[in-house]
Amino acid sequence: MQPRLNHIALAVPDLAVAVRDWSRIPGVAISPPEDLPEHGIRLVFVTLANCRLELMEPLGENSPVAGFLARNPRGGLHHLSLEVPDLGDALQDLAGKGIAPLAPPRPGAHGTPVAFLHPRHFTGALVELEETT
Ligand code: CO
Repeated sequence: MQPRLNHIALAVPDLAVAVRDWSRIPGVAISPPEDLPEHGIRLVFVTLANCRLELMEPLGENSPVAGFLARNPRGGLHHLSLEVPDLGDALQDLAGKGIAPLAPPRPGAHGTPVAFLHPRHFTGALVELEETT
């Protein structure tokens, strides 16, 4: 089965500014901010007709997004999230191809398990695999 694109995530230095900027696009809907302390981010989702954007700013001291923003002060493309029906099966398949996740699977923004794959395997793009519900 072909994976679906679940969302495109942008790291932003200031979530309020990002919400203001993106809300200028006619027709978009933006969710209220949500804190994910275990991921070190505060985020909103920008709903488009066929996909969502995840806008995320660092939350807390050791946010994984902080390093990205140090290298990209204006923010930018952080990761692509692809849906898989079974994350364990997908990771087992990838392991056979020499690709390991950056960390063991854990609950993501929607409570379903997610895992991240290093950009070196995918032409410079950080890939998030998200198990569909
Ligand atoms: Co994501």
